[in-house]
Amino acid sequence: MVAGASGKTGREVGKAILKAPDMELIGAIAAHHVGTALKDLWSEPVSLVVQAHLADLNTSYAVLVDFTERQSSYERVTDAIIRGWDVVVGTTGFTQEERRSIDSLVRRYEVGAVLIANFSLGAWVMEQLAKQASHYFERAEVLEAHADTKKDQPSGTAARMAQMLAESWEIDPQAIPIHSLRLPGMVAHQSVVFGTSGQILSLRHDVHDRTAYAQGVLASVRRVHNFRGRVIQDLSEIIDPS
Ligand SMILES: NC(=O)c1ccc[n+]([C@@H]2O[C@H](COP(=O)([O-])OP(=O)(O)OC[C@H]3O[C@@H](n4cnc5c(N)ncnc54)[C@H](OP(=O)(O)O)[C@@H]3O)[C@@H](O)[C@H]2O)c1
Repeated sequence: MVAGASGKTGREVGKAILKAPDMELIGAIAAHHVGTALKDLWSEPVSLVVQAHLADLNTSYAVLVDFTERQSSYERVTDAIIRGWDVVVGTTGFTQEERRSIDSLVRRYEVGAVLIANFSLGAWVMEQLAKQASHYFERAEVLEAHADTKKDQPSGTAARMAQMLAESWEIDPQAIPIHSLRLPGMVAHQSVVFGTSGQILSLRHDVHDRTAYAQGVLASVRRVHNFRGRVIQDLSEIIDPS
């Protein structure tokens, strides 16, 4: 089931689930669009109506796919875990405390959880390349640009990049500057610029439309049940588990 079905990302991810031959979409959740027929929102042949809560769904098990906003997502994700559902969460901005609480519930109820700041393949490849570059460069700054409707800042992807570089260099993540832009016309743009004497190395990833996230989300839905008792935060474990 997809929470955020009327949103920019949930809509694309939801349509991909609808079209996946090995999945069945059994519910859609949103806030202002509760009561709207999904077929009118998505222009797809689907008979579901948007609902408000997990309790509105008549099912004993589902995978919750959540692309909404931090506060309601936290409540919904914990509700899903307590019901014994697996969760695939794209919503960003959770506090450390909320993450710890989700982690402890996942272990207690032995469900699978995938909480990934960026489900796009390109962002994952960029992270692998940045990890490699960090062995040869000693300084970098992170840049991220998103639409002005994005609520959290810096983006989860940028924060994760800074964390990864800080771990590689054994320094405080706060020491790596993150620059954020929020402007109409942006979708999701991430870059990291490494600098050293006489040269720079720039890595950049641009999402032009949100279908970019569908592949990573579908792969996570397929695998999440195998991760019972664990919260997966690295797309490597989904797409490159060797
Ligand atoms: N991890 C990733 O790869 C990734 C990629 C893209 C975005 N994101 C994250 O995904 C989230 C959504 O982004 P977006 O750009 O798609 O946002 P958006 O277009 O603003 O959509 C938000 C969605 O959440 C729903 N919603 C808001 N408040 C709710 C509530 N209290 N209860 C239930 N549903 C609620 C909205 O429903 P109504 O329309 O009915 O109000 C809408 O469907 C953000 O946290 C963003 O950072 C993550």
